Amino acid sequence: MSAQENRSHEETTVTTEEQPSSPKLITILTNLKAHIQKIPTQVTETQVWKSIFRHGYEDTPRNRMLMILDNVWLHLHPTRIGRHAVKVRFTWCMGGISFLLFLILVFTGVILMFYYRPVGEYAYLDIKFLKFDMPFGMLMRNMHRWAAHAMVLSVWLHMLRVFLTGSYKPPREFNWVIGVLLLTLTLLLSFTGYLLPWDQLSIWAVTVGTNMARATPLLGSEGPFAELVGVTPRYDARAFLLGGRIVGSATLLRFYVLHCIFIPLIAGALMIVHFWRIRKDGGISGPL
Ligand code: HEM
Repeated sequence: MSAQENRSHEETTVTTEEQPSSPKLITILTNLKAHIQKIPTQVTETQVWKSIFRHGYEDTPRNRMLMILDNVWLHLHPTRIGRHAVKVRFTWCMGGISFLLFLILVFTGVILMFYYRPVGEYAYLDIKFLKFDMPFGMLMRNMHRWAAHAMVLSVWLHMLRVFLTGSYKPPREFNWVIGVLLLTLTLLLSFTGYLLPWDQLSIWAVTVGTNMARATPLLGSEGPFAELVGVTPRYDARAFLLGGRIVGSATLLRFYVLHCIFIPLIAGALMIVHFWRIRKDGGISGPL
């Protein structure tokens, strides 16, 4: 017998020897599959599962609704929504994306707060430390920065979508007004955050911005009706923003508190009203 014939003979022998064991393997695998398939039922029958989810597990329309209603997070959503409302080409998902960006900003902002001191002597150095020395500091700072830019854009686009689909019309006119307030707060968040790096760019940008507040009607010392109200450069909108006559340490602290606490809290509260109102106005508006 040649060497080649010998090898092919060995191969045939191995294959014939393996054959009897394959039905055994198939039985083991079938049993394993049956066990795995039973796991979801076994889990949903436990006392722990039943204490959390107080409804059946079968995929029925009633259980699907109860699943949403009984869950503290999911119940914020309606149990039923129109088909058009989940179409990205109708909503552009810009409201949802704005909210997601807001959440990212809150998370990364809180991380940045651990390392940043809103004091003239430290603010700039803390930003340098965050950027160059702190592990993941650059990532956190840039995520905060880019999410802020993206949120300004997404809120404008959301407003454009609401306008184009005529969703500002009754009964949604009140939610439009809440939206305008949210847009203003988003812009104010950007403006107050701009001062915090405490570098030349931020100081002079805020100097220009707050100078414009001088011309506010009624509230600015150089604005229309200033004499009528009696506002002076010492007590006007600009002085209120600066906490003094020029951009200084008082302004930094003021902008920090506005940026990290005051404006996010009001924006968060208004978002709750905005979302609640969408539900009360009959869900997302239909196509024109
Ligand atoms: C922080 C800013 C904002 C957030 C997080 C937000 C979030 C949302 C979300 C999640 C929706 C559901 C539908 C969708 O995603 O398009 C929505 C709907 C709506 N938003 Fe906003 N929004 C904001 C700003 C605004 C602005 C600036 C306006 C207009 C001035 C506005 C007016 C409305 C109206 C009228 C609806 C109902 C739309 C419909 O029924 O089709 N919102 N918003």
